[in-house]
Amino acid sequence: MNVLGIESSCDETSASVVKDGHKILSQTIASSADIHAHYGGVFPELACRRHIEAIIPVIDEALEKAKMGPEDIDLIAVTKGPGLIGALLIGMHAAKGLSIAWNKPIIGVNHVEAHLYAAMMGSEKPPCLPALGLVLSGGHTLLVQITNLGSYEFIGTTVDDAIGEAFDKVATLLNLPYPGGPHIEFIAKQGDPKKFSFKAGHVKKHPLNFSFSGIKTSVLYAIKGLPLSDIEKADIAASFQEAAFSDIANKITLALQQFSCSAIYLGGGVCNNQRLRKLLAERFPHLQIFWPPKDLSLDNAAMIAGLGFHKFRQNNKQGDPLDLEACARIPITLSNHIA
Ligand code: KG4
Ligand code: ZN
Repeated sequence: MNVLGIESSCDETSASVVKDGHKILSQTIASSADIHAHYGGVFPELACRRHIEAIIPVIDEALEKAKMGPEDIDLIAVTKGPGLIGALLIGMHAAKGLSIAWNKPIIGVNHVEAHLYAAMMGSEKPPCLPALGLVLSGGHTLLVQITNLGSYEFIGTTVDDAIGEAFDKVATLLNLPYPGGPHIEFIAKQGDPKKFSFKAGHVKKHPLNFSFSGIKTSVLYAIKGLPLSDIEKADIAASFQEAAFSDIANKITLALQQFSCSAIYLGGGVCNNQRLRKLLAERFPHLQIFWPPKDLSLDNAAMIAGLGFHKFRQNNKQGDPLDLEACARIPITLSNHIA
């Protein structure tokens, strides 16, 4: 079954053709990160304008790369949320238009759930369940127990900044380009992670929730408005990164005490960070850790097409009605209606 996936929830416009939920036949991604770089974060209105320009060429290119025409596509999967509402609407309307024009079913996919599915896509084998699921991206920080594909037990989320957002804000404080995560990782290699004792926040009464806004403020105080040498910047980056990732590892430890799991699936752009990968491998040698392949960690349409395939099958090969709506906020736990 060939699924055309469409993703437009933030600043990437992406289309992909995926066969049977895992074989990626093509993927095209147009990013508007260059415009947002001027503002140090995503400027929603400008992201929407780029989506409008990019959506049709990106879909055309994905079909062309897969050497397919509309007649070869069996299903259109589209991100229905969460995300920027204007941005989501552009992908959603493109998908609905094609569904009508080509007479193909359409299925809405939860973006955060798709980030977790990305780590399962590399293999045809069934996932190791129950597992912990952890999404670490620019817009989301979410810890769940995955009991089945489409069935999630909420464990924790951020009460303020997402982890990727904290990396981007700290990078801005250090005058590094946007998006800052990869730049923090790069300069942190030369820094001393013990130089500053930064600490992620503790959320009272909800120890499995995350809080990253305080650590960003601690970085601001450490900088004290002074010009920094390269080594000082590297020490701050390394200390921040270590504190953020130790918090992630500590939350996993706590979660494992309450939810019995032998595997963890991770998704989202922060998963590209090699220090995070090393730290989790050291801290959890007995856990099977599944990372998304590089092309599938940042926002992409392949994960949407892949998960769309399973949603359609679980839904007795029924698509969503054409009044399917994009939604800026949807909890991942809502998607378990088809489990
Ligand atoms: O998954 P993604 O595209 O965002 C959302 O869906 O929201 O991930 C983008 C985020 C940005 O915040 C970026 O700085 C961060 O992932 N990121 C990293 C790294 N590569 C990307 N953060 C830390 N280390 C990296 N190597
Ligand atoms: Zn994302």
